[in-house]
Amino acid sequence: MKPYTHEPFTNFSIEKNKQDFQEALAYVQTQIGKDYPVIIGEEEITTEEKIVSMNPANKEEMIGTVSMANQELAEKAMQVALTAFESWKKWKPEHRANILFRAAAIMRRRKHEFSSYLVKEAGKPWNEADADTAEAIDFLEYYARQMLKLKNGMDVQSRDGEYNQFHYIPLGVGVIISPFNFPLAIMAGTTVAAIVTGNTVLLKPANSTPVIAAKFVELMYEAGLPKGVLNYVPGSGAQIGDYLVDHPKTRFVSFTGSREVGCRINERAAKVHPGQIWIKRVIAEMGGKDTVVVDNDADLDLAAASIVYSAFGFSGQKCSAGSRAVVHQDVYEEVLEKAVSLTNQLTVGNPELLETYMGPVIDEKAYKKIMEYIEIGKQEGMLMAGGEGDDSKGFFIKPTIFADVDEKARLMQEEIFGPVLAFCKARDFDHMLEIANNTDYGLTGALISNNREHIEKAREEFHVGNLYFNRTCTGAIVGYQPFGGFNMSGTDSKAGGPDYLLLHMQAKTTSETL
Ligand code: NAD
Ligand code: ALA
Repeated sequence: MKPYTHEPFTNFSIEKNKQDFQEALAYVQTQIGKDYPVIIGEEEITTEEKIVSMNPANKEEMIGTVSMANQELAEKAMQVALTAFESWKKWKPEHRANILFRAAAIMRRRKHEFSSYLVKEAGKPWNEADADTAEAIDFLEYYARQMLKLKNGMDVQSRDGEYNQFHYIPLGVGVIISPFNFPLAIMAGTTVAAIVTGNTVLLKPANSTPVIAAKFVELMYEAGLPKGVLNYVPGSGAQIGDYLVDHPKTRFVSFTGSREVGCRINERAAKVHPGQIWIKRVIAEMGGKDTVVVDNDADLDLAAASIVYSAFGFSGQKCSAGSRAVVHQDVYEEVLEKAVSLTNQLTVGNPELLETYMGPVIDEKAYKKIMEYIEIGKQEGMLMAGGEGDDSKGFFIKPTIFADVDEKARLMQEEIFGPVLAFCKARDFDHMLEIANNTDYGLTGALISNNREHIEKAREEFHVGNLYFNRTCTGAIVGYQPFGGFNMSGTDSKAGGPDYLLLHMQAKTTSETL
């Protein structure tokens, strides 16, 4: 088998690639407006109550309707998943992995189609959609290979006259709860990590991006996944989310999303309910308030570009987004000026056009929240770029920079999850590190510096799960930069890393007297 390498990104300056993507967009346009059922085992169930998925760039356009599971259906899905677990757990790990390899191949063939759904349903511009699909393919390829590595367990010692073995076995039924912002990659990655390790799952996707999840579930069945292993149960977080998290037969919860919901899940999952015979495992990957730090000897063009692209990629709607720039006072004005100039060149608009850098934010609620933060920013700093929104057609907000923001200001502490960047001036390198570490979070960060001593100091003291030098703080690659954060950013489960699958299994020791 070929060694793992990540899926390349599409070069859209090549005319053929551009045409292929446009064709995929045109094809997906013919598919929109469909109705998607709840999928429980062999059954496709259409319900009265629907999630209506809208195009965030065009309030008139409905991407699809999705049947919502209620608690009764969630219970039914749990029972089906429990039954399916009894056979799926006995499948050879290599046979489970084969399904992921096949799924990766199918998705690779239909790459632009999946990316086009991301453009339409999540408002991702082409390159962001392409990266999301590439990451989903990477998760399939990488976790399948990781399972092959783990299938025989680990070596342990045996004394004379005994034979000791150490194996991993699956956990049971897992509840997968995914966010809107990587609606394909994170949803698929968290799902297939649980499946390839021999668990069965109930997948509850984000309510703004359920169609892309439905397309992925279809693909997994096309790849040969037995029915009942992956059950698709879209619905209200408060209703079926809580119900499934509380359920005594839930063995683990794999959540990616906001701090608020993650903490709620963690707390609820800790309670042992009647009939429950285990402590539930919780993977909770949550928010970020990530910083790009600029040293006084840095390449200032690189610094400005790293700040701007970290802040505004996918409209700042990444947990990894660099929403804070902490800049040494010696170069502060120059970096700010370069960043503002670069920001003013960014194009905001229809994500279906290749030239668009930034599309909309995900929905009205996000739009309102971000616009409120812009008002807060006007009190806390100096508006240098953007500051305006337009929700007449879709939910568009200009990339916005505030300067001279205090290190403790709300703009510097709270996750906004939109295109709003705060600039903060620092006295010296130690002060920069102090500011970088002064939030409740600890997800990503970047240091732009040519000072070896500072780089090594940051490597030790910049307390984030993913730290980058002389580049953006976004864009981790599966198998290359395992991803996950410290503190209130979550359980640091390191998606796309060599120990991720272990979180979905339990180890069993056997010792035979010979
Ligand atoms: P969210 O917390 O609003 O929703 C995430 C998921 O939780 C959705 O499927 C939602 O329906 C569900 N949910 C809501 N209430 C629930 C409940 N009571 N019980 C169970 N499930 C419930 O997050 P979002 O807006 O979709 O995503 C953005 C957030 O995700 C940001 O905070 C971002 O930083 C974070 N995020 C983190 C990572 C990471 O790896 N650390 C990656 C992506 C996104
Ligand atoms: N994996 C995504 C990134 O690194 C969240 O930007």
